[in-house]
Parts: sequence; structure tokens; C-alpha cells
Amino acid sequence: MKKQQTSESAKNLEKMLAVSPYNQLALSGVDPIKDVKIFDTTLRDGEQAPGIALSPEDKIRIALALDDLGVDIIEAGFAASGETEKEIIKELAKSNLDAKVCSLARAVKSDIDAIIDTGAGFVHTFIATSNLHMEYKLKMTPDQVKAKAVETVEYAKAHGMEVQFSCEDATRSDMSFIKEMVVAVQDAGVDSVNIPDTVGVITPRAMSYLIGELKSTLRVPISVHCHDDMGLAVANSIAAVEAGATICHVCMNGIGERSGNAALEEVAVNLFANYGIQTVDLSKIGQVSKLVERVTGFNIAGNKSIVGRNAFAHESGIHVHGVMSNSLTYEPFKPEMVGADREIVIGKHSGAHSIQGRLDKLGVEFPADHMPELLATVKKIAVTGKMIDDAELLAIVDNIIWKRGTKTKTVSLDELTVLTGKNTTSTAVVTVTVDGDDKRTAADVGVGPVDAAINAIKKAINDKITMEEYKLSAITGKSDSICEVTVMVKNVRNDGALSVGKAVGLDIVETSVDAMMAAINRDFARKRNA
Ligand code: KIV
Ligand code: ZN
Repeated sequence: MKKQQTSESAKNLEKMLAVSPYNQLALSGVDPIKDVKIFDTTLRDGEQAPGIALSPEDKIRIALALDDLGVDIIEAGFAASGETEKEIIKELAKSNLDAKVCSLARAVKSDIDAIIDTGAGFVHTFIATSNLHMEYKLKMTPDQVKAKAVETVEYAKAHGMEVQFSCEDATRSDMSFIKEMVVAVQDAGVDSVNIPDTVGVITPRAMSYLIGELKSTLRVPISVHCHDDMGLAVANSIAAVEAGATICHVCMNGIGERSGNAALEEVAVNLFANYGIQTVDLSKIGQVSKLVERVTGFNIAGNKSIVGRNAFAHESGIHVHGVMSNSLTYEPFKPEMVGADREIVIGKHSGAHSIQGRLDKLGVEFPADHMPELLATVKKIAVTGKMIDDAELLAIVDNIIWKRGTKTKTVSLDELTVLTGKNTTSTAVVTVTVDGDDKRTAADVGVGPVDAAINAIKKAINDKITMEEYKLSAITGKSDSICEVTVMVKNVRNDGALSVGKAVGLDIVETSVDAMMAAINRDFARKRNA
């Protein structure tokens, strides 16, 4: 049984979206669009993307995931390209998938024979129909091309195959010749005809016109295969469906030759959200997309629709505020519809709402009177473009809460200059003010920039201070992570007492100095209270 959402869950899905009412209005007068089949070519056209080379195990994993997602046809490869490819298709053909397993074939009998050997029951055969391709690539006349196509379709049909025929480069082919071709292959028994926009050159309006013309010529279902060279692959696929096509060729994450193919996730979500057509199990899109990203090594752009990491991420204060009261204010549909998560990003544009929302989610109580300080710290760090993750936010919060106990500042750091490099003695100069008016400047060297800065501070305050402990940790394991420094110093006022200071920040030297200053101030505060 096909693993699609039930009509009950489809109703629930409808509550998850808020698309434009004009989408439906604009369809008045258009024949109702019913069933659309998803022909997935991630493992064929997708794998043809420069830089992708899938192992047999990778292909099988992806095919199983696509089957579970509910695609109708899986183009698993090009059987005639070699024994390994044949073995993969063979393996899938006997795997009892719900999806039909298909292989690509040129319009030559030997390519069909290679598919027959695999046991797959679906052939997708093609030959180019544009003058450009026929003259320069095939070096064949239109009549020869047509004869080849008919011969191949008849041969595959005689072997009991389901056959789809593609007019390669259809969108740059003469209309009269495409019509001649599709009628000829239809007479030869083809099951469906595919119209590829091979180099992504058609517009949605023209696609609509072309499919409309073919629809009035053909009885068999029409399929489309759109490339994204001009960014119109999904729009063209949808235009084709509006005009009567009932099969869409797609690739997960939009991978494929050059700029890729129409993205499975975008076509499926559009068909559902804007036309009410259920194709695949949308809630599995997130996981299949990640699998394809991992296995192909083809990274998804952050701003990629539906599956990019920013597709449901919000940072700016106004948007976060809106999303927190009703997510549909700034999302067309809820992320759970496509198996994704919403993320409230803490960054340069964050407001108090975002931060409070994130703290609530983390179950952290934070004193409201310190929110301005937290916001200022976050902005200071995020102004560099860094996004602050949960662990880093917690470290900043901890530090502010910790500092509440050591509020009085007796010593302040006015200036810090550090000179460091390879084969150079690290040198630091600091200027501090003690008790509001005692300004002191000191310079010292050290085994590195942190050591030099700390030595200079000691010199400015009291050179009997000793560093008993120094702990540095990166909050996450990344090179731009916020770091946390804890120091324990002794003898700030020559009495052997220990004092601890802590700070968080982006720069190790600055953060170490801040921690040192916190420890010194803590000790001065103890002195006053004593
Ligand atoms: O883009 C294209 O034309 C193709 C054909 C093989 C259908 O991938
Ligand atoms: Zn293609």
C-alpha cells in the first residue's frame, strides 16, 4: 500500500498553512487538477550533477527512503552505463518497493536489453528532437530520429515494459515535429510522453501553452522534466500541471545536471499547499532531504525553500514576536508539515522577545532587570555575524547571573593593546582606573598574548598577584564559538586570599582579561565588605 497521508491527516495539514487566497481564485475556469504522479530522478539526473558519485549502498538507501516518502516512480539509473548500475537496478527491482523502478535508456535496442536484464519493468527512453541537437549532436534527420524512437518504443513494449518517451530538448524543438513525434510514439504503444526543458529555457506561460497544445494532440499522460538553469524549474513544472500534465520529474533538494532539476520538496509542497493535491508524505521530506544531503555531499543552501536551515528560522525581533503569537504570521506553513523544526535564532537582529522565548524553551529563569544587559551582550557578540546557539546563550546567562554577586566595580579596564605573532615576544599594554580616579598604565611581556595581558594587569594592580588556576573552554566545538574563561588568583591585596573571576566572549585574550578583572573586583568587594 502506498504510504501517503490519510485524508484525516490531510485535513490536519490544511490547518497548518496560510497561503494566498488568489491561488484558488486564479484557477477558476481551469480544469480541476486531480492526480499528479511523482517521477523521482534523484538517482539518475540528480547523480549526474558534477561532483556526485553514489556507491551502490548509497543508491539503495536513497531509493528506500524515496519509496517510503511515497514517490510513484524511481528512476534508479542508466542500466546500459555499466554492470554496477545494472546490479543496483536489479536489486531495487526485486525489493518489492511500492514505487515503480525505472531506468533511463537511449533510443537503442541494446539499452532496452540492459534494462530487461535487470528485471525493472519501467523504461524511460529518450532522443533529442530540437534542430540544434539533431544537427550537431545526433547528426540525424528528423525522420531518422522519429524512426529510432518508434522502433525503441515498439521493442520495449514487445518486452512487456511500461514505457515513457522523452523528446529531449523539447522546449527548443519545432512544435510540428514534437507533435509528429509524440503521436508516432503513442501509436507505437507508449504509456506516457515526457516533455523535458533540458536546459531550463522556457517560461511558465510558454510551458502552459506547449502542454496545452500537446494535451489536445495526445491521449496518453503527459509528464514534464524541468531544469533550473534560469530558476524556473518548479514554476514550469507547476505551470505544466495546470495545463494538464500529470507526471512531474523531480530530484530531492533540486540536485541534477548544472543548476539541477525541479526540487521534489518544492513541487510536492506547492501541489499540496496551492492546489490541494497530495503526492508524497510531506512529513517525511525533512528526513529524506537530510539523507540525500549527507549521502551526496551536496550541501543545501541555508536559504533553500522548505529544506534549507533558514526555511523556518527567525531572528529579527518583529518576526519572532509575530511567530511566537501565531507562526503563520511569518511562515506560509508550519515546519512540522514537512518534518522540519522552527528555530528562533539569537543574533544581531534579536530582540528581548526572542531571547526570552529561547530562555523559556530552555526552562531557564532569568531576572528581568538584567535582560537589557543580556541583550547588549548578545548584540555585541552577534554584531560580528555570529549566531548564538543554546549552549552559548546559557554561558552568557550564567556569566551575568554570576556577576550579580560581584556588582561593585572598583577597578575598570580602560585600554588593552596586545602585540603578538610568530617569532615575536608577546607584549601587552593596559590602562586601568582604580577607585574612580587612580589611572595606571603598565606594559609586560609573556609566553603568549594571554600571558602578556595578564602580566600587564598584575603589574598595574599588584605584581604579587599569582594566577592559581586558568580554565578556558569553547562552548561549542566550532572555531567561532564563544569561549568561557575562569581564573583563580591569589594575593590581590597581599593576604593570601583566593578570588575567582569568570567571563564569556568571542576573543580569548579579551575574555581572559575580563575574567582577571572580575576576579580582582571580587577581591576588592570582599575587602570593602570585611
Ligand atoms: O534533461 C533532459 O532532457 C533529460 C532527459 C534524459 C530526459 O534528463
Ligand atoms: Zn534532465
